[in-house]
Amino acid sequence: MNLSVVHTVWELRQALKTIWRSELLLGFVPTMGALHEGHAALIRQANRECGFTAVSIFVNPIQFDRAEDYELYARTLPEDLELCRSCGAQLVFAPATEEMYPAASLTHVQVSGVTDYLCGQHRGPHFRGVATVVAKLLHLIQPARAYFGEKDAQQVAVVRRMVADLNFPVEIIGVPTVREADGLALSSRNRRLSPSERRDAPALYQALLAARAAIEHGSGPAEARRDALAVLASTPSIRVEYLEVVDDESQTPVSRIDGPVRISAAVWLGSTRLIDNTTATPPRLSRSEGGAPGQRL
Ligand code: PAF
Repeated sequence: MNLSVVHTVWELRQALKTIWRSELLLGFVPTMGALHEGHAALIRQANRECGFTAVSIFVNPIQFDRAEDYELYARTLPEDLELCRSCGAQLVFAPATEEMYPAASLTHVQVSGVTDYLCGQHRGPHFRGVATVVAKLLHLIQPARAYFGEKDAQQVAVVRRMVADLNFPVEIIGVPTVREADGLALSSRNRRLSPSERRDAPALYQALLAARAAIEHGSGPAEARRDALAVLASTPSIRVEYLEVVDDESQTPVSRIDGPVRISAAVWLGSTRLIDNTTATPPRLSRSEGGAPGQRL
């Protein structure tokens, strides 16, 4: 099937009318463009699982906490369309800012709790902007399934919670992070790293792996955090914004580990901010050690 590219809400509705009426499962991959292999994995999975795959490409101004980050965000539409085509997408919605926000919005979606820590604590109105634009896109596209990268684990948790709380008829699918050979998670922001920052950047994943190993050997969150921070301390160009062991659903730091947890971090290399995460499962607790549910902070 050919790739159709539409830029307005009216064109989008025309393009989807027959799909909505058909039996085809509609899959949706929301993106901000500057697409890379991580996005390709989302589109390919949607394409494998659904009869029709739509991708949105929209750099959403209301989710940026720094004007500079919004301005520097790479815009590469021709290459993005090529990647969408090669991964089997059938429709791309690439609206202008005025199309998505014709007037200053008076309505926003705020998901609380899940946004209290991690990026939610450090990026001001970021998740309000994400939840609002994702809500708009889900209404516009009306997919059966929507695909999100697990690199943004807190974003996945926020979207899942919004969809559950507001009864959106969509299934949210988290897709595993795609990494470079040295472990660096693919990100549109990686292209902003200088050669020396790029050399140092894999320390972020190494730190997460150190925390994971600690947890898998029975350490608690404080010890796991200490091990991870020790790895980051050996790379002086890295400034840590946060590194936490959290419950994946609530995205809240845990005080004890008695089930699978997520280790999430954000660091700065010069003026580039990188995030990453991994999951870890503790060794089985023996009967004598108990098995009471873990406590959240
Ligand atoms: O993950 C992203 O690229 C964005 O946050 C999203 C989900 C497309 C919303 O703008």
